[in-house]
Amino acid sequence: MCGIFGCLCEGAPSILLQGLKRLEYRGYDSVGIALINGKDLVVEKNKGKIDEFISGLDEARLKGEIGVGHTRWATHGAPSKENAHPHLDCSKRIAVVHNGVLENFLQIKEELVRRGHTFSSRTDSEVIPHLIEEYMNEGLTLKDALIKSMERVKGSAAIAVISTVEPNKIFCYRRESPLIVGIGDNGVFCASDIPAIMPYTRRVMVVPEDRLVILERGSIHVEDLKGVTYETEFTEITWDLELAEKGGYPHFMIKEIFEQPRAIRDTLKIPTVFLDKAARLMRGRIYLIGSGTSYHACLSTSYTASALIDMEMRPVISSEFADALLSLEDSTVIAVSQSGETADTLNAVKHAKSKGARIVGITNTLGSSITTLSDAYICTQSGPEIGVAATKTFLTQLVALDLLLLRLGLISGKLSEPEHDLITKELSNLPGMVEQILSRSNRVKDLALKYSTKENAFFLGRGANVATALEGALKLKEISYIHAEGYPAGESKHGPISLVEPNFLCVFIAPRDRTRDRIIGNIMEMKARGAEVFSVITEGDKELKEISDEYFEVPISSEILYPILCTVPLQLLAYYAATFRGFDPDKPRNLAKSVTVL
Ligand code: G6P
Repeated sequence: MCGIFGCLCEGAPSILLQGLKRLEYRGYDSVGIALINGKDLVVEKNKGKIDEFISGLDEARLKGEIGVGHTRWATHGAPSKENAHPHLDCSKRIAVVHNGVLENFLQIKEELVRRGHTFSSRTDSEVIPHLIEEYMNEGLTLKDALIKSMERVKGSAAIAVISTVEPNKIFCYRRESPLIVGIGDNGVFCASDIPAIMPYTRRVMVVPEDRLVILERGSIHVEDLKGVTYETEFTEITWDLELAEKGGYPHFMIKEIFEQPRAIRDTLKIPTVFLDKAARLMRGRIYLIGSGTSYHACLSTSYTASALIDMEMRPVISSEFADALLSLEDSTVIAVSQSGETADTLNAVKHAKSKGARIVGITNTLGSSITTLSDAYICTQSGPEIGVAATKTFLTQLVALDLLLLRLGLISGKLSEPEHDLITKELSNLPGMVEQILSRSNRVKDLALKYSTKENAFFLGRGANVATALEGALKLKEISYIHAEGYPAGESKHGPISLVEPNFLCVFIAPRDRTRDRIIGNIMEMKARGAEVFSVITEGDKELKEISDEYFEVPISSEILYPILCTVPLQLLAYYAATFRGFDPDKPRNLAKSVTVL
């Protein structure tokens, strides 16, 4: 996920920078701008956050009334000045900013290099300006060369292009990745989302899929790749800016919960080469380490590894790792961390490395400390997560780990190809299943209202869903401040049950998996003591519906998907409970998104 911005107006340099600042939530590892100043393209870009970038700029150099800019969240190529956008062609006449992922860039790049093009980055995006240049060298106009280029590249792309060849226009194109254009009294604009252009105009158009849009002073022209022209249909934005930054949602947390189908879809596209490189390192003793929610992903995966590929993987909380005095000779440590910067996990990784362990990093932040310490790394594709409570990054960690187990199973011969393909196919159904759960979020909202006056809750599950229970309890306690404990359901009778009295809330994670029948026994134990039971169950499970006071159904799926599916209603429960209790779920007290102290 990245942010793009373009403008044709007086004062373009400073408007460009302000626009990018508003898009920083979409990526903040590097930033860059290009402006047309007379016959020249002025390009400034660098690694780092936008404020550092602005303070290092020579403002006198920034002139012009047409410009494009980009905030980057790295997918191909680590954060660096070279990999920052805009990217240029060889003759430095065309500047391109891109948000999306190009699938066939390697093949195109090889061809262009053979034809004499010189690349200066490791990004997928840089093929676009070179491809346009190549077609222009064959005699096409800029517009036709751009159309041909976009027909050639596969994958998602929202782009904005400026060129000294046609210095009065910005060419935009949109496929899958979002793009908005707007027209105001003082100029025309394009951006990845509405808030970036709201201070300049409220007359905007969401660019439809597969359309080319040409911005000129005072006009916006829309056509498809075949040259058919479309009328520009503007909408007047009436929301306030703060709401718009959250895509119309009241908080980042709920926005991020609803982004999960997209995040999973993108994570399912992690290239096999990365998974295979990691899987080949996984020999000897295998440890899964993480903190907070990331540890829950580790715990869940340890169960899946035994069930799916008959391999033992030991989950360890990062801050306990060194003190556990584990044997690290011939071992592999899988370090799971959304930020890639958590001090406890970094410390554990350094300890493991010093003892000779191989490190596989799984983070949502390419270029973070953990990726640089890892022998192989896998980047989850959640996009930046702003809400302090991890939601979409947890689901994508589970998906990435499942993909890794599948490759490991195949490579080690523990899974046959048909078995591997069958589970891969089931994983591909996940985004749709999560969408289905989200479409019933009002049901959870009602329950959250009912439970928002509780002071205590147990979250109970068995097998991999012990991790789901721990995660559900963590979410509820950290943002709604209801005291919640996650426990293995079978263990709850050895102590915790003494707290249960009439109306004590017990949330059971009870999908139709190998643990279901024993969970029923645990539910009965709690009910016998007057507990109020809310169960997350598999669609159509009559028996569980009857014995639970309230229930939420998740779609029927294979066992390994249930921890992912059952987490979603628990995230919603925590979110709505926090809002009903009057707390800001995005900023829970005493917590930080990334904890960089030991
Ligand atoms: C903090 C956050 C948690 C997160 C944990 C680990 O405590 O508040 O939400 O799960 O750090 O973060 P990581 O970036 O390593 O996944």
